[in-house]
Amino acid sequence: MPVVAETDRVVVRTFRSEDAADAHAWYADPEVARYTLWEPHTREETEARVRRLAAIVPPGVVGEWAEYAVELTEEGRVVGSVSLKIDDDVSRQAELGWFFAPRYQGRGLATEATAALMRYGVGLGVHRFYAVADPRNIASTRLMERLGMRREGYFRERMFYKGEWSDDVVYGVLARELGGAAGGEGAPAVLPVADAGGDG
Ligand SMILES: CC(C)(COP(=O)(O)OP(=O)(O)OC[C@H]1O[C@@H](n2cnc3c(N)ncnc32)[C@H](O)[C@@H]1OP(=O)(O)O)[C@@H](O)C(=O)NCCC(=O)NCCS
Repeated sequence: MPVVAETDRVVVRTFRSEDAADAHAWYADPEVARYTLWEPHTREETEARVRRLAAIVPPGVVGEWAEYAVELTEEGRVVGSVSLKIDDDVSRQAELGWFFAPRYQGRGLATEATAALMRYGVGLGVHRFYAVADPRNIASTRLMERLGMRREGYFRERMFYKGEWSDDVVYGVLARELGGAAGGEGAPAVLPVADAGGDG
């Protein structure tokens, strides 16, 4: 099973079809889906999604989302997903995404897994990482800040989803701003995980 990145607590890897039972904990959750473009999944929809994701061969295809499973090593189960989409191979801009099961939120696992995915992305030659969220999605924008991203732009009523117009906030960071650790093997966390206990 292709492994994209590993940290002390998690392995970021391609999904396996057997992950569907664990993954349903977040794909079926209305709170997790609240600020996403998808609706809470039925069991069949989760299974179909996981089957589709299981076919992704890292590093994925330029212009398409590569969504990877985050396996919590100590429990041997998947607790969330992190995603990377490299928009094109000239400008090498990469969008990031994340979904975590509610009972595994609040432990820094999303920060740790995404930081590891970003280090992998730096190795692929990503020049700039960015992420987009509904500004009401505070957990997501706090995560972006923990990842060292800064707010770059605010777009009013840029999206129509879940029956209403919503704003978009864009956060970004340049690969070179991630510091010397960014490409380094066995490097310490690129990102300011250490101060994550603060206000973000
Ligand atoms: C966005 C999302 C992934 C963030 O998850 P999260 O658990 O808050 O993020 P982390 O795993 O990095 O955990 C950070 C929290 O754990 C705490 N924490 C505990 N131990 C920690 C550690 N070792 N390192 C970092 N943070 C730690 C932090 O203080 C922080 O809590 P705070 O925000 O109350 O300060 C999650 O809320 C989610 O899945 N949301 C729904 C899906 C979604 O909206 N996706 C994005 C669509 S645009």
